[in-house]
Amino acid sequence: MYAKQQVGERIFWTGVNDRRKQLFENIWPLPYGVSYNSYLIRDERCALMDTVETGSDGSYLDWVAETLDGRRLDYLIIHHMELDHSGEIENLLARFPDVKIVGNGKTFKVLEAYFGASDNLLEVKDGDVLDLGHHKLRFVFTPWVHWPETMMSYDTTEGVLFSGDAFGMFGALDGGVFDDQVDFERYYEDEMRRYYSNIVGKYSAMVQKALAKLAGTEVRTICPLHGLVWRSDPQKVIGLYDRWSRYEAENGAVVVYASMYGHTARMADRIARSMAQAGVRNIRVFDVSKTHISYLISEIWQYKGVVLGSCAYNMEMFPLMENLTRELIHMGVKGKYLGLFGSYSWNGGGVKNLNAFAETIGWEQVAPAAEIKGRPDAGKYEACDALAEAMAVRLKK
Ligand code: FEO
Repeated sequence: MYAKQQVGERIFWTGVNDRRKQLFENIWPLPYGVSYNSYLIRDERCALMDTVETGSDGSYLDWVAETLDGRRLDYLIIHHMELDHSGEIENLLARFPDVKIVGNGKTFKVLEAYFGASDNLLEVKDGDVLDLGHHKLRFVFTPWVHWPETMMSYDTTEGVLFSGDAFGMFGALDGGVFDDQVDFERYYEDEMRRYYSNIVGKYSAMVQKALAKLAGTEVRTICPLHGLVWRSDPQKVIGLYDRWSRYEAENGAVVVYASMYGHTARMADRIARSMAQAGVRNIRVFDVSKTHISYLISEIWQYKGVVLGSCAYNMEMFPLMENLTRELIHMGVKGKYLGLFGSYSWNGGGVKNLNAFAETIGWEQVAPAAEIKGRPDAGKYEACDALAEAMAVRLKK
């Protein structure tokens, strides 16, 4: 980024923005880019906290060298081995061959799998402290946030938490690096929830464990591996992660439908209108064929009510709705009120398979599925209205 940014007296942000990549992990769209954060602690002994995705910025190592300002790089501390953070390790070792790599036992197994055997390793255990001089880093193992080897480090001197993927977000750092330099709600909160729900959400139970482990630690600044550095209000982002990982949702409903010729789409509109008339205020309606699944999952994470509709397709669910339901099961999303609907022309298949999904995921189904044969003319909407009413009653509770 070539604009020095100090995070603390001796801590520097050495991350990069990536606005070129279309898909994070080759699946999640990045309309606003992403940042890979890396930090340098320039102390009596200098430590680099993680690297960046290789190819994201060819000048990254120059940037690190410039920030070192002639000092020797003593340590590379690896909080997470996913390649968006470890990608530059090989190049870093070529440039700074004496650097000692700090990680845990699981870190080093992945390191070897990616880059071959390394020497000059310093294996740390949960709770170990690395003394850099002024700064003292205590390692906090937080497995599965978001890979098995993930850990955080906490600087006991200034209360800085290097949190790995936790508290990260999609979205490049457009000028502001700190939470107090941007309008978070306007520009970042949705992208943070989309990041959480799609990348970390599957491991929500482990997020809760990590938060419990950090309770009682005085965190003054949070330095995640993606997105904003939280120096003014770190409790805000801790609170968001706590809420999301407890599946605490807002009052409202997301309607997602799959429709080929508009019949199921009409049912979706009818259900949404009926819910609104019954007093539900926050309603979002999406066509599964048009909106990327990552946004659908993020919206579903946000709201308590979920209404899914599918036409029949080769006697099954519509493939993209099937993909969404499979992903919801895979992610283990919990605690929703569910409504189902769909249409068919001869044998059906959409609603039948949505009902099977309902049994598997175990959410509370608010009413029997609404199903219409053929064109949904006036007079065929009774079950849609009943579903909408039932959802409104649950949401009002
Ligand atoms: Fe940002 Fe799990 O890597």
